[in-house]
Amino acid sequence: MVILLCILLTRGMVKAQTTSQQGGEEYRPQIHFSPKAHWINDPNGMVLNKGVYHLFFQYYPDSSVWGPMHWGHATSKDLIHWVEKPIAIYPDSLGYIFSGSAVVDKNNTTGFGKKGQAPLVAIFTHHDPVGEKAGSNTFQNQSIAYSLDDGNTWIKYAGNPVLKNPGITDFRDPKVMWYQAQKKWIMTLATKDRVTFFSSPDLKEWTKESEFGQELGAHGGVWECPDLFTLEDAGKKVWVLIVSINPGGPNKGSATQYFLGDFDGKSFTPFSIETKWIDYGTDNYAGVTWSNTGNRKIFLGWMSNWQYATVVPTTNWRNAMTLPRELQLKHVGSNLLIASQPVSELSGIQGKPIVIEKLKISDSLILSKKIGAVKFPCRLTISMEKASDFSLSFSNDLGEELLVGYDKKLNQYFIDRSKSGKTTFEKGFAARHTAPRFTSRSNINISLILDVSSVELFADGGLTTMTEIFFPNKPYSKILLQQAGKAVIKKLEYIKLRSTLQK
Ligand code: FRU
Repeated sequence: MVILLCILLTRGMVKAQTTSQQGGEEYRPQIHFSPKAHWINDPNGMVLNKGVYHLFFQYYPDSSVWGPMHWGHATSKDLIHWVEKPIAIYPDSLGYIFSGSAVVDKNNTTGFGKKGQAPLVAIFTHHDPVGEKAGSNTFQNQSIAYSLDDGNTWIKYAGNPVLKNPGITDFRDPKVMWYQAQKKWIMTLATKDRVTFFSSPDLKEWTKESEFGQELGAHGGVWECPDLFTLEDAGKKVWVLIVSINPGGPNKGSATQYFLGDFDGKSFTPFSIETKWIDYGTDNYAGVTWSNTGNRKIFLGWMSNWQYATVVPTTNWRNAMTLPRELQLKHVGSNLLIASQPVSELSGIQGKPIVIEKLKISDSLILSKKIGAVKFPCRLTISMEKASDFSLSFSNDLGEELLVGYDKKLNQYFIDRSKSGKTTFEKGFAARHTAPRFTSRSNINISLILDVSSVELFADGGLTTMTEIFFPNKPYSKILLQQAGKAVIKKLEYIKLRSTLQK
């Protein structure tokens, strides 16, 4: 009897292990950061310090759905290989640790530095769940913590919170930068339906400077996770203000808009009032840029959407980050736009490219026959002389497919995940999403980074980007290119990417 029980128990355990192995491991990104276990959302505190890129993130270590927030931590030397570290900042009596940023306090304005060593300072929102439940409107306040050992351990400032809530229910996600022209810190804070700028000499005392956006941009949801920084346009500085909103994105749910303009240490003045989006796909949210990277501006977002982030079909771990992307300004006619490209460090995991030039197609072509067995992660880049309707279908033998393409009449790129595999966990997930094409050039170029459960589309040198996740029941192995009539692909490049997961 005892033996039988033992056998049954062992089987049960084996079964439980198998289920949890399947419970998401088959979807674990191979070249994107995901937590070893449990829940993540927004990237936080991204800062470059002594050659190491730090990525903190909203993390709940007790479950794979959202809960009391901590700052998880990962580091990388090349933005591609990530090492997950112990939790950096834990909730306390002031509340959960919501999103925020980190800076290197080079001038030791805080006085936290010791023996000439610049402290790292994290600026985050303390979210008090007790106050929230009690119906208070001051339950989100800004606090700071510092590290004197390169981000490994953090000491919370005894005078927290440093910026108290004046009575605004959504008062969070501080992004701080050093404003050299007036030698002061600027905090950009999401304050419900606008951003509010504050300044400080020492990260401890904050003064309100101005508000922006109550009547500008998209307002389908609450404003969250802003960022303020500069990009160069022909030697001139242009100020970029990034604001995530949820819901209200161009393809439903969470998304990130941006404004270009001027900032004078007090107010932000936009060049235009039109709403622009960093990424038109459904799965790039709460993205901001790394601090302390000089002229290089590197952006990374959370590769999910609040519409379904808590119910995607993974159980051991939930959600991942996008690839880090380098941002640049580009002129397109009279329009000034942000173009995003995967960071060049990605080349470090590339296999030998398979290149095919002047490939003639009429109607359709099974690309996988030309380039051999297709395996994700990979990068596929296609250039054509003439922009005309085309689609790439990634499919498996269960009839599940992901479609990525261009619709000439509507001048739109699209990603269709309607039949991509598991889709019923949320009613809006199975859908076709679109993004405008901005350039009117006749030649077209798209580059896709495909991981086992995500696609990132960079079209026309990154002028249009779309990021989307999917969950096939079997990996896709076939690529079919469909094209209206006859066409010549000028160049096709297929590159396998090596997994960055630590074995
Ligand atoms: C955005 C967000 C932030 C908040 C955090 C909480 O996804 O709602 O505004 O700080 O997530 O986890």
